[in-house]
Amino acid sequence: MISKAFTARAHTNIALIKYWGKKDQQLIIPMNNSLSLTLDHFYTDTTVYFDSSLKHDVFYLNDEEQDASKISRFMDLVRAQAELKTFAHIESVNHVPTTAGLASSASAYAALALAASKAAGMQLARQDLSRLARRGSGSASRSVYGGFVEWKRGNDDLSSFAVPIEENTDWNICMIAVVIDKNRKKISSRVGMQRVVETSPFYPAWIKSSEHDLATIKKAIKERNLKKVGAIAEENAMKMHALNMSASPHFSYFEPATIEVLHLVELLRSEGICCYYTLDAGPNVKILCSAEDSEQILKRLAVKFDKKQLLVAHPGPGVELISKK
Ligand code: PMV
Repeated sequence: MISKAFTARAHTNIALIKYWGKKDQQLIIPMNNSLSLTLDHFYTDTTVYFDSSLKHDVFYLNDEEQDASKISRFMDLVRAQAELKTFAHIESVNHVPTTAGLASSASAYAALALAASKAAGMQLARQDLSRLARRGSGSASRSVYGGFVEWKRGNDDLSSFAVPIEENTDWNICMIAVVIDKNRKKISSRVGMQRVVETSPFYPAWIKSSEHDLATIKKAIKERNLKKVGAIAEENAMKMHALNMSASPHFSYFEPATIEVLHLVELLRSEGICCYYTLDAGPNVKILCSAEDSEQILKRLAVKFDKKQLLVAHPGPGVELISKK
């Protein structure tokens, strides 16, 4: 017996207020609320069907068969919820540079949560879809929604999920990703964040200040104040990376080219161009700016970087079912 196949598309998101530390590693309950922007340019398409002739889950990423053990643990959650024993065939196509710090896990698990739950015969409300996606990767909880999204940390499985702040934002903003390294990151976000929780003496201060950053950025988003949104996001990202440098053993995702981009953004700002950076668990830099200024910023970046390293994205939609090509 083969179930109906469902294909879901989810877009990645970039956090403006970062999630960096878990209160519960098993359930993926974060230490603090986070806030992100879902992007249109980077997405994952995932098709799932259940097949009773399979002896284990089968997983293809970009047409290549992969070890399915991690994804199987996630599928076990779907099977438990749907009271199903059958294994699944899963096929993903990633339109995000995989694990290059552009958070491909966010789009991957949001797409998988929708496609797998539908193929298992479930009709999950978006809140429950966000909770399920969270179990695959924390940031995936936010990719269920488009635009600006807040992940409310909650304190258990039921209360930890994302909510939309402005799903279909009409704000003409832009995120330029400068891809410095496409390779797998050296320290996974799981290992990195756990290490800072356990060893950084600054961790309690991070929690306190990210609460403040969240409140002020929400107000600035409402006011359409790019200068404030950018400044808060940039400072929040630097505080997250300062945690890494204060951990034991300390670590950093910055490469020499990362620093070059940060300096260039600061230079552009001193020239009066409104642009700010943010960075995740990798060396790539994401630049927040208005759509009008993007051409000018790209031109300056193109002096140092290849055109292929510069990706432009805008606010994108939440997860949805699509028909497979
Ligand atoms: O969802 P994970 O486990 O890939 O962790 C994401 C962590 C950051 O991207 C650095 C921050 C965030 O909130 O997305």
